[in-house]
Amino acid sequence: MEMTLDVRPLSPALGAEVVGADLSRPLSDDAFACIKRAHLDHCVLVFRDQHLTPAQHIAFSRRFGDLHIHMLEQYLMEDHPEILVLSNVRQGGRAIGFEDAGRYWHSDVTYEEVPPLGSLLYGVEVPPEGGDTLFANMYAAYEALDAATKRRVAGLRARHRYNIDRRRPRRGTIHVTDEQAAKIREVSHPVVRTHPESGRKALYVNPGFTVGIEGLAETDGAALLAELFDHIDDARFQYRHIWRQRDLVFWDNRCVMHHATDYDPVHTRHMLRTTVKGDRPV
Ligand code: OGA
Ligand code: MN
Repeated sequence: MEMTLDVRPLSPALGAEVVGADLSRPLSDDAFACIKRAHLDHCVLVFRDQHLTPAQHIAFSRRFGDLHIHMLEQYLMEDHPEILVLSNVRQGGRAIGFEDAGRYWHSDVTYEEVPPLGSLLYGVEVPPEGGDTLFANMYAAYEALDAATKRRVAGLRARHRYNIDRRRPRRGTIHVTDEQAAKIREVSHPVVRTHPESGRKALYVNPGFTVGIEGLAETDGAALLAELFDHIDDARFQYRHIWRQRDLVFWDNRCVMHHATDYDPVHTRHMLRTTVKGDRPV
């Protein structure tokens, strides 16, 4: 039987729930087209109550493009390197996943030259409260800039870097090898990018990985970024996702930032992420 999908907006800023999809099964072309359209229109899609094996999670993700393999190979799922494990579960004294990932505003992997299209995060086990994920609409953030700031940022490029030291979480769970550290290079992307599919402009700087502005003195670049980050951090651009077990959330990394929030670590939070490769930002 053909699935009929219902797309229900979750907040005025961004986000929609897709009702009626069983992502464990191959999608018809129609269902896929509907999800693809909704993803472009709403930027974050929530699918509740999905029962997915890693292979099914990967298969659904693959409909949107080739998958990215994260550089932190110690947190990739055994036998499924396409899956990054975000988890506070420990086995034999060792964290099986990336424990404190993303507790700051960021867009995924902007420290690479060709950052991902989007990520699909699956909540296998979520705490009874806390551990929400905030999302922010970067089209809306761009559009809300005043005309003078739009002119000032037009044509600028920002420097991005995965700064392991600055981002070392409180519980110290990121262990990068010297070899991984050596692979970290600075890259640059336009401060305002044009989404390759919607054609809309989005702000593309984030407090997590953006470290400066090309061609500006360090202090001038830092001042401009501080101004933009202050502008971005505004509830009118946001949706707060309160996780339920077995939610799959798929965000568009090209026009959305996200931010993990704290939770009581006595509870388990075990999440699996696939990441779809994207285009070089322009
Ligand atoms: C991610 C991420 C946030 C969270 O998966 O990329 O930043 O709330 N996760 O787990
Ligand atoms: Mn992230």
